[in-house]
Amino acid sequence: MRLFLAICLSEPVKAALINAQNEMYEGGVRGSFTSEENLHLTLAFIGEYPDAETVMEALAPVTFSPFGLRPEGLGCFGDLWWAGMRASPALEALARRVRRALAENGIPFDRKRFSPHVTLLRKARGPMPGIRIGEASMTVDAFSLMRSDRGRNGMIYTELGRFPAGPVHEA
Ligand code: 2AM
Repeated sequence: MRLFLAICLSEPVKAALINAQNEMYEGGVRGSFTSEENLHLTLAFIGEYPDAETVMEALAPVTFSPFGLRPEGLGCFGDLWWAGMRASPALEALARRVRRALAENGIPFDRKRFSPHVTLLRKARGPMPGIRIGEASMTVDAFSLMRSDRGRNGMIYTELGRFPAGPVHEA
């Protein structure tokens, strides 16, 4: 199964991102827009791995305090367009702890540098409109182990496990 770790977004943040997608569409942009339920922020991408239970156990010791998250700006990797998330030490630290826990347990993952983004659109066609994402923010109080399956009408993401914020014990 195809696995990744992600932050699931709050309804207000998703609503702001859907508005941005609608403005893109109205501006003539076409492509494969991410559906509302699929909007997420990936912390680490594992890819094909047979054993979700091992991943759950590896991540159980990861601790973090709740922190704020807000979309900020648009960008692209080729024809994949995304909303950036405002960089914060807490977000960077969570991604680092998640990745370290995977590495320490011999679970492979994509080592590309963490670049906090939420994919809005794939195979984008048309000029990137000069739009702004509306004000929205959320508190991150958990991250999730997700499974990705190819469905008839696009990707289907299923939450397999949830890791809530808790007291941080500095080593
Ligand atoms: P993307 O949206 O920028 O493609 C599930 O595929 C999630 O894992 C997506 O958020 C995807 O990011 C992310 N991801 C990171 N590295 C990936 C990789 N090498 N292959 C597929 N998805 C990857």
